[in-house]
Amino acid sequence: MSNRIKTKQFQDLDSQHHLHPFTTHQSLRTEGPRVIVKGEGAYLYDSEGARILDGMAGLWTTNIGYGNKELAQAAYDQILELPFYNTFFKTTHPPVVALARKLAELAPANLNQVFFGSSGSESNDTAIRLIRHYWALKGEPKRRIIISRKNAYHGSTIASGSMGGMSHVHHHSYPVYEGFRHVMDPCWYDESFDGETPEAFGLRAARAIEDEILRFGPENVAAFAGEPVQGAGGVKIAPDSYWPEVQRIVDKYGILLLADEVITGFGRLGSWFASEYYGIRPNLITFAKAATSGYIPLSGVLVDDKIVDALMAENDDFNHGYTFSGHPVACAVALKNLEIMERERLVPRVKDETGPALARLLSRFKDHPIVGEVRSVGMMGAIELVADKKTRRRFADPGRVGLICRDHFFRGGFIMRAVFDTMVCAPPLIWTEAQFDEAGTAIQKALDQTLADVKGEVTA
Ligand SMILES: Cc1ncc(COP(=O)(O)O)c(C=O)c1O
Repeated sequence: MSNRIKTKQFQDLDSQHHLHPFTTHQSLRTEGPRVIVKGEGAYLYDSEGARILDGMAGLWTTNIGYGNKELAQAAYDQILELPFYNTFFKTTHPPVVALARKLAELAPANLNQVFFGSSGSESNDTAIRLIRHYWALKGEPKRRIIISRKNAYHGSTIASGSMGGMSHVHHHSYPVYEGFRHVMDPCWYDESFDGETPEAFGLRAARAIEDEILRFGPENVAAFAGEPVQGAGGVKIAPDSYWPEVQRIVDKYGILLLADEVITGFGRLGSWFASEYYGIRPNLITFAKAATSGYIPLSGVLVDDKIVDALMAENDDFNHGYTFSGHPVACAVALKNLEIMERERLVPRVKDETGPALARLLSRFKDHPIVGEVRSVGMMGAIELVADKKTRRRFADPGRVGLICRDHFFRGGFIMRAVFDTMVCAPPLIWTEAQFDEAGTAIQKALDQTLADVKGEVTA
């Protein structure tokens, strides 16, 4: 059977039975999905036999690349030994203990306990419950408000979606849960006033949190939650002045800090956690994705000793948990994944080699006629597509040109994601010079093709 016929069969079955996440189903059915059949190292292969360089690490996830046999072996061995047992009824098992210990070792010093789940959304739901429960235990039950930011993505369950700041997600989970407030995001390129320096803008964006605390009264505010770098919002990298000011504010009002490191955890910025990179001291870190390099679902919340002390002081149930909290196979795979990351020195390599290489790669395109800005931190970056470089004027119909560009990337055998008209990337941490070179050629070609498609709309 030809590849084309096989692809068509997959597409037909997919459209008959499969509802996709975050998808316009009508157009997906017309176009048919691309069928990915294999992954190896930095590359994916589709059902037509095309080799694709994955600039998105799956979905900010496959830090060690595809097809790693050691991870497969770790899963196989654990399945034979103990494929599943729960961690509810005063029970534990070796892989969950070993992984919790390892994570405590890698995390900031005050975070020594882990509550496990299977997705970033679940870990944020857990964090929300822990935050509110903590304040209730401390005798301040009125502290329920959690402040986060516009364009934040914290997941797609109703609680994590409410904490997130994406209006299109809220729209679908209406009514948004009460007790979540969203302040401006710290993206200088989109939000700064004319002539405002990144430093001044960073302070202004952080002080929007303080204004919100004062508006509702600190006695009602439980926490501030933020992704160290807003990923799904468009790789929005805060200026250097932002996070120190956020830390000053949460300290001043005694509120908890939740760092959502579902994307930035496990090396993406060149430190195990981005909290370390930005010098912040979160009381909770949520993680998922790259904990297992995405080979199997696992997530969790790293929890501050002071929150754990409050839990310990109460002789009652914390009524929360998931069947797959601390799944033994997922824990065994995570342990092996972290061992490989350490052995291959993938985290220091982001700091010294791959991160700087990504910055050099993207900076080659800053003068392109449709590029308003390029930016990166560690191994995540963005290219802003604009109609007018000088005024930062966007194209009409936000997202249209991003999709045109994304499709050119796809056809050219390279994956970058479009967040409206911001092209974002987060390659696996294993990229070498060969992949950076290949990406450079693909980006040049896709930007030129996009320019040709929209030339009439571009101000030279
Ligand atoms: C920062 C952040 N938090 C939470 C989530 C939700 O994770 P999941 O899709 O595993 O529920 C994501 C997903 O991309 C994310 O980027």
